[in-house]
Amino acid sequence: MQILEMAAVHTAQIAALEGEIFSLPWDEPSIRAELSNPLSLWLVAAEGADVLGYVGSQTCFEDTDILNVAVRPDCRRRGVAEALLRELEQRLYARGSRQITLEVRASNLPALALYGKLGYAEVGLRKGYYEKPREDARILQKQLVNT
Ligand SMILES: CC(C)(COP(=O)(O)OP(=O)(O)OC[C@H]1O[C@@H](n2cnc3c(N)ncnc32)[C@H](O)[C@@H]1OP(=O)(O)O)[C@@H](O)C(=O)NCCC(=O)NCCS
Repeated sequence: MQILEMAAVHTAQIAALEGEIFSLPWDEPSIRAELSNPLSLWLVAAEGADVLGYVGSQTCFEDTDILNVAVRPDCRRRGVAEALLRELEQRLYARGSRQITLEVRASNLPALALYGKLGYAEVGLRKGYYEKPREDARILQKQLVNT
């Protein structure tokens, strides 16, 4: 498995996974637009031409928001998301980011376990933030340091 910066060749597979995994998915034109957004950094975990997972982020000065993280259902529990996030954190630090913030559905225990393992701390709750279904968001944050 390789961790690569997202390229045009990956966007169709990412859009297909978005549609499969999320109730409010990013569509392919929106994902493609991220390729030319100077604030954005998306990484993919790939085996040959196959996308196993991806993470999307946008950074403003020292603050990064993680937009989405997902791994193909048949590739989960193999360290793919952990590898993506660790690589993302290193690349963001090198670009000057010092803090990552993200929202996660309050009931999403696998994602909460993932972020907990990587040292993200809960800093707040957004009541009713998510739709389809309506649900609270837990806001998590991590300070980035040189590793
Ligand atoms: C959450 C998600 C990205 C995790 O991807 P993954 O590649 O399976 O995760 P990893 O194998 O890298 O797991 C790393 C750690 O996360 C935690 N974890 C991941 N999945 C878990 C699960 N189902 N149950 C409990 N802990 C879990 C564990 O601590 C794990 O470390 P360990 O294997 O040493 O126990 C994946 O389940 C997914 O795509 N879910 C649907 C989309 C989603 O919810 N995205 C997050 C939106 S905020």
